[in-house]
Amino acid sequence: MPTRKDLVHMSYCSQALLPIGQSDLDRLLQVSQHNNQRDGITGLLTFSGEVFVQFLEGPSDAVSRLMGRIQGDALHRDVIVLSEGADHERVLPGWDMELVAREEAHQVLRAALGEADRYDKVIGLSRLLAKLDPHRYSGG
Ligand SMILES: Cc1cc2nc3c(=O)[nH]c(=O)nc-3n(C[C@H](O)[C@H](O)[C@H](O)COP(=O)(O)O)c2cc1C
Repeated sequence: MPTRKDLVHMSYCSQALLPIGQSDLDRLLQVSQHNNQRDGITGLLTFSGEVFVQFLEGPSDAVSRLMGRIQGDALHRDVIVLSEGADHERVLPGWDMELVAREEAHQVLRAALGEADRYDKVIGLSRLLAKLDPHRYSGG
């Protein structure tokens, strides 16, 4: 029988709203690492300048609460969930929340596009990929 403490993961992408600078990112990571340690959440964040991609894992109740806060955050909009599910163990134990390179964001989105099962998701992901890499995806 599943409980609210079961381990789950969730990944999403979103569109940044303001010009976001290094100090905004530093502040965001500081708050995230503090809260995530408290809440038992681990994961990673990538940021391209326009697009966020984040992977989160932790107890299901903590991940739900965090997603509620994130979806209401004025720093971004158009939060699209890429994947979610139950896990037996963490992929990133010890990562309170790390910022990783733009290339990673690209890889995560391409993989999600390859597995997308709904038309609106394909469109949303294609748009985000075009923003990440306009030369490669324009017109295609
Ligand atoms: C792209 C993005 C990723 C975020 N990731 C996290 C996170 O991993 N953990 C977290 O606590 N807050 C995260 N936040 C911030 C939350 O939206 C929210 O501002 C914060 O949790 C509020 O914390 P406080 O109640 O301690 O002020 C993120 C926000 C954005 C825009």
